[in-house]
Amino acid sequence: MATPPRQGNHDAVEATNVDALFTKLSACRRGYITATMDPYLATLADSVLLKGGSASQKQKHQRQRDDFAPLIRLGTYARYACVRRALEAFLATSPTPQIISLGAGFDTLPFLACNANDDVTWVNVDLPETCLTLARAVASTQNLRDAVGLEPHEVDMKLPVPLRTKKYAVVCVDLAADGAPDALVVALTRGELPLLDTSRPTLLLSECCLAYLPAEQGDAIVSAVARAFPTVRILMYEMTLGGPFGEQMMTNLRLRGCPPVGAANSASALAERLRRCVNEAGDSSDGDDSWPPWSSSRSFDAVDMASAISRAMDAEDWRRVRTIEPLDEVEEFNLLQKHYALAWARRDGAAVV
Ligand SMILES: C[S@@+](CC[C@H](N)C(=O)[O-])C[C@H]1O[C@@H](n2cnc3c(N)ncnc32)[C@H](O)[C@@H]1O
Repeated sequence: MATPPRQGNHDAVEATNVDALFTKLSACRRGYITATMDPYLATLADSVLLKGGSASQKQKHQRQRDDFAPLIRLGTYARYACVRRALEAFLATSPTPQIISLGAGFDTLPFLACNANDDVTWVNVDLPETCLTLARAVASTQNLRDAVGLEPHEVDMKLPVPLRTKKYAVVCVDLAADGAPDALVVALTRGELPLLDTSRPTLLLSECCLAYLPAEQGDAIVSAVARAFPTVRILMYEMTLGGPFGEQMMTNLRLRGCPPVGAANSASALAERLRRCVNEAGDSSDGDDSWPPWSSSRSFDAVDMASAISRAMDAEDWRRVRTIEPLDEVEEFNLLQKHYALAWARRDGAAVV
């Protein structure tokens, strides 16, 4: 496997995952995500601070650790709970599950999944600096090493695969590069040591990653994975930027240097994109409504996060977190949630090569 070319300036988009990690850490400190629920958040955040970024970035992140509004913590928790629920349902019903996490950043779900399940294989895909920082953080942190079963010889800090164990790999692919859809599938299935087996049930996960790629490129990536992995489940949590509030979010991210060029306008537009990607790959599974746990009989669908809270979250858990920091800005919270969506799709078919 060749080292992927470095294209353009990735710093701004890679920084978004540090924000994602610190908003989750902030939610953890206030008791939304408890240390028992996720023992990896605090150790990964500490380790990322030690192992990655410039001195000024580190100072900024130190300050940022708790500098978020309650509505951000509540929204972060809603997203974490929904994605985790879908993941756990996939793990519970798939005998030898595989997960491909696009733009995985410093997500802690791989550690939870690998620790809980001996038969899982999890592949994180991201840009170079993130992959290297993550590999260093995992290699130097006991509970992360234990979760993925890391032996010392399984880290070599070289791109494109700086870390690989029996159940977990960190793989660098620039998903925005020309030819990335094919390069991704080749890296996953046909490298010198293939990371994944196309005959196993596979979950393709994208949390706030595909919005940073042109829509056609994001769709080509989803289609390529759906063609190569015939038993595939797809879960996306993405921003949807229609209307004046969405335009303002777009402007803010453009000013930060990471415009979400591929964000859909609405949850239904995102569902329609998934429908096209999955249908293009071949048969889909309208009849199977067992995944995700809040699914309908359609093989693809999406809901905005304001609706996902009542449809996909456990009601008692939602009541628990609502009391942690009762919100004054309920309307603002709902408006923000309407600009994020959960989308999902299922395909049970034959491989298309
Ligand atoms: C907002 S972060 C989300 C991180 C993680 N999924 C989470 O939810 O905590 C977006 C992630 O997408 C990754 N990303 C953006 N553009 C990418 C590209 N062209 N190729 C690979 N990864 C990319 C970033 O590096 C970053 O880790």
